[in-house]
Amino acid sequence: MRVLGIETSCDETGVAVYDSERGLLAHNLYSQVAVHAEYGGVVPELASRDHVVKLLPLVKETLAESQTDTSDIDAIAYTAGPGLIGALMVGACFARSLAFAWGCEALGVHHMEGHLLAPMLEDKPPEFPFVALLVSGGHTQLVDVRGLGDYDIIGESLDDAAGEAFDKAAKMLDLDYPGGPAIAALAKSGTANRFKFPRPMVDRPGLDFSFSGLKTYTLNTVAEHKTETGLPDDQTCADIAFAFQEAVVQTLAIKCKRAIEQTGYKTLVMAGGVSANIRLRELLSENLKKVGASVFYARNEFCTDNGAMIAFAGCQRLLAGQSEPLEVHVRPRWDM
Ligand code: KG4
Ligand code: ZN
Repeated sequence: MRVLGIETSCDETGVAVYDSERGLLAHNLYSQVAVHAEYGGVVPELASRDHVVKLLPLVKETLAESQTDTSDIDAIAYTAGPGLIGALMVGACFARSLAFAWGCEALGVHHMEGHLLAPMLEDKPPEFPFVALLVSGGHTQLVDVRGLGDYDIIGESLDDAAGEAFDKAAKMLDLDYPGGPAIAALAKSGTANRFKFPRPMVDRPGLDFSFSGLKTYTLNTVAEHKTETGLPDDQTCADIAFAFQEAVVQTLAIKCKRAIEQTGYKTLVMAGGVSANIRLRELLSENLKKVGASVFYARNEFCTDNGAMIAFAGCQRLLAGQSEPLEVHVRPRWDM
């Protein structure tokens, strides 16, 4: 089965062709980061308009690169939610119209299921069952994954998502959006042990998270060390980035270890934009090794939003017999 995947839930236009026999044949991504940079975050209307402009050229390019004729496509999988409603509608209408014209199936995919399954695109894919840590700009969840479509959320953030916390902390330090990679880069020149930020909710039982207190702590630390430039000096900014990143990744790692112990599984899969964080990867691999579990994640470009994960997730769902009627239906909010 050959599936064209389309991702437009936020600020990346992603297109890919996945073949169930031959694997991923081609994938392309157009990032709107430059479009939104001057606003310090994603502007929904601009995101929708840009998806409209970029989708068709990206599809043509991806079909050509994968040497796929339109008649070779068995189905089109698109992100049906969660995400920005306008951006989702662009992808959904485009995918459904194309499927109608080509006479093939179309299937709406859950964006977070796309992230969750993305590590399976790698050479050594994880096997079910596993615990998934989903860490993106909108979600922080621990999921008991028993099989395809058999998911139980066993922990989640009660307020901000981890990626959102990275983005907000970056803004406080006057760093560019998206904040995660910017904080990680600055943290490299930070001094360990100058600041110790709190690890929220680690002393409480359970698997939930909370990152809003950490955000306030960061804001206060930045304010306390402000110079006449309006920001702390460069070394202090780096030290704050270091302490912030450490607090987030240590908190995530503690809960992941707890989730592995609770489920008795031997595999942790992390996915979503924050799973590109090198310090998080290091720490999780180190901590879980101690309890005999191993950690899987996707290559960097498949941690953040992309079309490959949607093509892959759609293909798995279709192979499992799922199909959908013709109407266009998107869900800006959608429980997995
Ligand atoms: O999964 P994703 O691309 O989009 C959503 O579905 O939200 O995740 C984007 C989030 C942003 O908050 C971004 O700051 C964060 O992932 N991110 C990172 C890193 N790369 C991206 N956070 C920490 N470290 C990184 N290296
Ligand atoms: Zn995402």
